Amino acid sequence: MAGGDVLEGKYPAKAHARRVADFIRHRVSDVEAEGVLYLEARMTKMIEDNDSPEPFRQRRYFNYLTGCQLPDCYLTYDIPTSHSTLFIPPIDPDDVIWSGLPVSPAEALLKYDVDEVKFTTDLNPELARLSKKSGTLFAIAGQVSDHVALSGFTNKNLDILKEAIEACRVVKDDYEIALIQKANDISAVAHTAVLEKVKSAKNEAELEGVFLEKCVARGAKEQSYHGIFASGRAAATLHYIANDAPLAGKLNVLLDAGAEWECYASDVTRTFPISGEFSKESREIYDIVLRMQTESIAMLKADVVWDDVHLHAHKVAIDGLLKLGILKGDKDEILKARTSVAFFPHGLGHYLGMDTHDVGGNPNPKDTDTMFRYLRLRGPAPAGSVLTVEPGIYFCNFIIEPYLKDPAHSKYIDAEVLEKYWDVGGVRIEDNLVITATGYENLTTAPKEAAEVERIVTANRLAGF
Ligand code: GLY
Ligand code: MN
Ligand code: MN
Repeated sequence: MAGGDVLEGKYPAKAHARRVADFIRHRVSDVEAEGVLYLEARMTKMIEDNDSPEPFRQRRYFNYLTGCQLPDCYLTYDIPTSHSTLFIPPIDPDDVIWSGLPVSPAEALLKYDVDEVKFTTDLNPELARLSKKSGTLFAIAGQVSDHVALSGFTNKNLDILKEAIEACRVVKDDYEIALIQKANDISAVAHTAVLEKVKSAKNEAELEGVFLEKCVARGAKEQSYHGIFASGRAAATLHYIANDAPLAGKLNVLLDAGAEWECYASDVTRTFPISGEFSKESREIYDIVLRMQTESIAMLKADVVWDDVHLHAHKVAIDGLLKLGILKGDKDEILKARTSVAFFPHGLGHYLGMDTHDVGGNPNPKDTDTMFRYLRLRGPAPAGSVLTVEPGIYFCNFIIEPYLKDPAHSKYIDAEVLEKYWDVGGVRIEDNLVITATGYENLTTAPKEAAEVERIVTANRLAGF
């Protein structure tokens, strides 16, 4: 599949534009389809009451059709001629002393997969010219700046472009997969470094520092999301972000963090023992979660129904928790009662791409079935889609307590056996996979086998750093 050399070419912005135009062509009349796609980058925004800009994050819809991560730009794409024009800011002489020279049109044309590059000062005249020959302007509601003159277009469709881009983003091409692979490769180095440090570290914050240092030093200045460095019982807080607690007296760390590479995400979770050796109870839970993941991954292939994989992961969890005695009773009844949701309360995974929780998954957060409410991907996953497989088992008092008080569930839970597991906190293991016609490709290489994890932690290679 996608090797690193794919990234020596340009981000395939024109192929994306054609795909989006095709989607629209199938949905609107022939006359309407003879139109223009219009997209804006994120604009520079100043921090309130301050003279510095807010951290910049490129708008994903714009990036998909340009591969351009500059702020304050625009794109037009003329559907009938398949001609794309990128508009970049001109030189502001007053700004050069502070920021240096901006990218020139010639440089931008070399770098980005577009047909033409103009200055943003040319945008309104170009829109006026296009409006004389094109029927419809396709843009995204709420993403058109006030100074942009669209009045020449007799038809404006502000709905379908967003929907079209989101639908097209689900299936990734080789270039996008190579970007996610690159992000994963950096994350693997950073995850491994944390394993090499944890035995001698005193606080979660040191682990976050090690992780970020490895990413930034490799050119990944952005994280895909706020990293979770959760020790002990904090691991049961799914999106724990404090990352500042001491490690002393805790059993495990749950580390969920991933580097971003050119707007593409990695999303990787590992759980490991601070001492270098899993406690008996931790290892028991780790083995169940790893089996949930291994069996879920084995089910992956084109058009696998994600709900079925999620359901299977619950069955493995129930099986494992029954063997430990945390659950008791009939496995089918437990599944039907949804008691396993107390221990595995989130979805098995989600699409991954420019967003960590990527678009196109059709979740149903209002689902009355608690087992599926937080499943961010519903239905079949096509070949070329990238998703996470991230089962977990957690011991969160706040979540489990109501189950213990509810006779419909408490009859399936052995509270005495459960007592031994609270300090495990939570175990999650998360990899990123591409769905292929016959199976999958795993993009995540961070260490995961229990023995290997223990060996790396015990070696404590980064002690003193
Ligand atoms: N890191 C967020 C998630 O795994 O969904
Ligand atoms: Mn994650
Ligand atoms: Mn995830």
